Amino acid sequence: MFRVPCETRTVAFLGLASVLSGPAVAAEPKVFSSDVAPILMRHCVDCHRPGEIAPMSLLTYREARPWARAIQRAVVNREMPPWFASPEHGTWANDARLSQEEIDTIVAWVEGGAKPGDPARMPEPPVFTEGWQLGEPDHVIELPAVAVPAEGADVFRHPIVRVDLPERRWVRAVEFRPGDREVTHHQIAFMVDLAALMAAGGDDTPSLVVAPGAISPVDEQGHFNALGWWAPGIAPTVFPERTGRWVEPGTILVVNQHYHPNGKSERVDRTRIGLFFGEGEPEAEIVAILAGPLELEIPAGAPNHRIDFRYELKADSHIVSYLPHMHLRGKQISFTAIYPDRRREILLDVPEFDFNWQTFYYPEEPKHLPRGTVIEVVAHFDNSADNPANPDPNQKVGWGLEATDEMMFGIVELIEIGPEK
Ligand code: HEC
Repeated sequence: MFRVPCETRTVAFLGLASVLSGPAVAAEPKVFSSDVAPILMRHCVDCHRPGEIAPMSLLTYREARPWARAIQRAVVNREMPPWFASPEHGTWANDARLSQEEIDTIVAWVEGGAKPGDPARMPEPPVFTEGWQLGEPDHVIELPAVAVPAEGADVFRHPIVRVDLPERRWVRAVEFRPGDREVTHHQIAFMVDLAALMAAGGDDTPSLVVAPGAISPVDEQGHFNALGWWAPGIAPTVFPERTGRWVEPGTILVVNQHYHPNGKSERVDRTRIGLFFGEGEPEAEIVAILAGPLELEIPAGAPNHRIDFRYELKADSHIVSYLPHMHLRGKQISFTAIYPDRRREILLDVPEFDFNWQTFYYPEEPKHLPRGTVIEVVAHFDNSADNPANPDPNQKVGWGLEATDEMMFGIVELIEIGPEK
């Protein structure tokens, strides 16, 4: 029997859609100043402005006009703004997607000749805060300088720093400020147990901290003690009102730093981590769990290798965020709740994972999951030549820190609310 392949159906459907929407679009030309600029201000210029992570500024008509066709393509294909969660599962406080109406407006503007409109009707550009986005931190941790050569292999550093606090404080927000965002790929800081660190011994201890079989990044309660992270496009961590994480005086932080040479010039990064303290006692403490293996192997050339992991919640919990984490072969990842009554619910589905965007997903309403619920993380990896990001399809890949190694984690931040609390 002859079957229409999936792609053909999709193309046919899109063709029909554009025929249907064609006349309506043509009837109502849109202009930059009053129609398009407000959309760019709201959804794009956080990254698309001078000094930020995107390659070009979209703040003014002059800057945006040459990119009109590229903008149209990027928004119609939903490549921009970057957002990877399927809209079919969950609703997200930080959902970056444009509405269909906003996309139609941009398309109508471009198809209508990308006209400037009346400059007097340009919206005020948003006010950007220079420096710390959350204001002056209560405590600043300075990390050692890292030189990143102009070219060559990625640079990894694992500095260990002590947090010098006179007393125990709880952190309500954490902000990373990499000194050089152009070459910083990502950074993550976690708190480690000093005794365990000493027991492991040696100068190369930092890299042992997350190595399989050595000190686990996970404590006895199964919690992952990450304090904060930075990756392009990730906003500073602000925990929900009156919640946070305790930091003890003398807490030891290990920071995983990953740099990617820019191919142009040597750079020096000096990263600072700002801690913002809450007053009094927090109403609840945020913990993070790490749902993923510390060892894995993906065969050479495997186009759709599946890895899954199950984590059982030890207490009634409110989910605060999900962070899927994989490297260059990561293709798809989903988080599913399996309730104690066996009912399944997909919490988050990322059908097309992109290593360059390590995105957090914040449920619009804190998700309540009872004790005993299993969070099942299922991921698929493409280690074949069809994956353009794959550095070498002829090699099997194991677990490791480098981008060319692999990882598979679902990191889930949550508040435990029972049974004893
Ligand atoms: C979170 C940061 C971020 C946001 C928000 C964002 N962009 Fe981008 N954009 C980038 C980065 C980084 C790149 C370059 C790398 C890439 O293409 O992924 C890029 C690339 C692009 C490109 C492709 C440029 C080329 O070389 O072809 C276009 C077009 C674009 N963005 C338009 C937009 C528009 C329009 C919006 C808002 C509706 C938007 N972007 C929102 C970060 C962002």
